Amino acid sequence: MNALIIGSGGREHAMAWKLAKSETIGKVFVAPGNAGTHLEYHTENIDIKETEIQKLADFAADKNNRIKFTIVGPEAPLAAGIVDEFRSRGLHIFGPTKAAARLESSKEFAKKFMQKYNIPTAKFQTFDNSDPANIQAAHDYIDQNGTPIVIKADGLAAGKGVVVATTLEEAHQAVDDMLNNASFGAAGAKVVIEEFLDGEEASFIVMCDGKNVLPLASSQDHKRVGDNDTGANTGGMGAYSPAPIITPKIHAEVMRDVIYPTIRGMLDEGIPFTGFLYAGLMISKNPDATNKIKVLEFNCRMGDPETQPIMMRLKTNFADLIEHAIDGTLNQIDTEWDRRVALGVVLAAQNYPQTPKKGDVITFLTKNNINISNAEKEEIKENNSYVFHAGTAINADGKIVTNGGRVLCVTALGDSTKIAQKIAYEEVGKISWDGMHFRHDIGNKALK
Ligand code: AMP
Ligand code: GLY
Repeated sequence: MNALIIGSGGREHAMAWKLAKSETIGKVFVAPGNAGTHLEYHTENIDIKETEIQKLADFAADKNNRIKFTIVGPEAPLAAGIVDEFRSRGLHIFGPTKAAARLESSKEFAKKFMQKYNIPTAKFQTFDNSDPANIQAAHDYIDQNGTPIVIKADGLAAGKGVVVATTLEEAHQAVDDMLNNASFGAAGAKVVIEEFLDGEEASFIVMCDGKNVLPLASSQDHKRVGDNDTGANTGGMGAYSPAPIITPKIHAEVMRDVIYPTIRGMLDEGIPFTGFLYAGLMISKNPDATNKIKVLEFNCRMGDPETQPIMMRLKTNFADLIEHAIDGTLNQIDTEWDRRVALGVVLAAQNYPQTPKKGDVITFLTKNNINISNAEKEEIKENNSYVFHAGTAINADGKIVTNGGRVLCVTALGDSTKIAQKIAYEEVGKISWDGMHFRHDIGNKALK
């Protein structure tokens, strides 16, 4: 039987690569995929966009395609109800329903949910633009609370709807941009304004089948575009797993105070959560803090680029995990992880994150996993580094070109963070194109 993965990023390439190694899966279709998933062993791209839900369901329902299950990578189709549609047609799919995906698609829903179920999070208030008095109230709230303060668009904004304001001017501007000037369209017609939290961030991702939970390996992302966390926020410039900040004690606390209350709370609300649940955490560095862990956000999917190092470390058969999750039997399976550290460095296109340049030919100075024959790919299957594609395409001359902001994620395994970092950056040195840029400090926090 075959599998279908929806999406076109590095996350989807990594999941497809992992799934394609599973003996129980013949072929992995990726819709729409990228150059990496096109060239990957045992995978095939199909030309359907991630938001064309009916077409995707038709493809999965077509007996000739022999689709055993579908995994949804990005949030947009989830928020649009792809899981509801597939299930109504009796198709197996792993992800949350439209109602459950509100944990990500509405920050107001997520914050009110956390408040109701005592899940630790930053203090907040929400404001909408239905009345000029509400907009004024948002400005007053900022003046009362001072800076730093955080302004978030309520809806999905591709990771760009958060302003961490350090001056009052910036904070007022963010409110005006979202509520008055519709800078995020309908997604910004309502804002959450919340307390600034200090500390170190970590990504805590679990699989849920509605009632059972299986935690994946911890990881840490690097959100800012520049070294030492400077410059604009991005979707993520690199990640490593495990995140040393998630000690066994913190792990237990996150499960007790965040994950279990969320799963139980969603059941109480009558909207059981199925799918990957990603809690973006802020962990206070103050050892005396009463609430050391706070939830910054929920995502209802795997992280990108966190998935790339996580998949490199996963030793359990990924297809088995997904099937247990779909069957509601996650309590009957466990995960096994490579003990080594995995670390991924994102290579971004010129002018990312603003307006990334497309169409630049990528030069691979040595053979990598992509521009070699299938037989050679089999040989290097267990190699300690891998280049996952994201924003890539194949041009008319058959060359691999940039086709998005985050282009590649060069991921390596090593016995320590230092070794994984060394291997990853050595591999980065073999790739180039006009305007390519990346961070030089991925993993440095884990070295401290
Ligand atoms: P979000 O999309 O909510 O995860 O926000 C994106 C990024 O903004 C996070 O990864 C943090 O770096 C930052 N951020 C969000 N909320 C807060 C907060 N309350 N305090 C400090 N930083 C925040
Ligand atoms: N890397 C952050 C995210 O996937 O949301």
